Amino acid sequence: MSKILAANFKTNHTRASTRAYVEALDTFMEASGYRDEVYLFPPATALNRFETTSDIRIGAQNAYPIENGSFTGEIGLEQLQEFGIDTILIGHSERRHIIGESQSFIAQKYAWFKEQGFRIIYCIGEPLEVREMGSEAVRRYLIDQFEGIDTSYEKLILAYEPVWAIGTGKTATPDLIEETHAEIKKMTDHPLLYGGSVKPQNIGEILAVPGCDGALIGTASWEVSSFTEMLRTAQTSK
Ligand code: 13P
Repeated sequence: MSKILAANFKTNHTRASTRAYVEALDTFMEASGYRDEVYLFPPATALNRFETTSDIRIGAQNAYPIENGSFTGEIGLEQLQEFGIDTILIGHSERRHIIGESQSFIAQKYAWFKEQGFRIIYCIGEPLEVREMGSEAVRRYLIDQFEGIDTSYEKLILAYEPVWAIGTGKTATPDLIEETHAEIKKMTDHPLLYGGSVKPQNIGEILAVPGCDGALIGTASWEVSSFTEMLRTAQTSK
């Protein structure tokens, strides 16, 4: 089955380096006949209408649930529409735990972008102290992260990203991913990506996990050669 691969640039890359990245990625996808879904989440300053031959879907890492208005430092729908952006990440752990977004605000944002017909990649995942309490505690924690979220939305893609595995080099084991993905799929059945220290060396075994429909990649996606290496693995491991 085809896999979904997504690159989250977080607070990395400039407008110029994003353009160079997209060109290199496009060249790779063209040359290799890559046809599966590929998403790229550059920083807001690098959003653009890229003229690519291959199907590279550009999304926003974040936006405020408003068309326009007075929300200093935020961007809204109008700024996304300028570049034809209709995909957004919501609920990422860095926005929950570092920026401090509450579940109710995340739910409000989700409802609003759903109303606009956006494709939403909705992220969930437990911190280490919850994982250490065992799988039942994790299950309850993840259920709470669906509070206020319409899980029947047809343009929903889920990403399970355990907080303790993000940017730490500590990847969840295939068994743990399989077990947790099975639990999540009981809650709601949508394409489900894994994220957390995915890299060229481990993406093959992660994509092979039953119930894993792709990967949301941070650090290892920032170098285009590393990301294309992972696309190649995805392509050959079907
Ligand atoms: P890393 O791949 O750097 O662990 O980040 C994962 C992530 O947060 C993707 O959204």
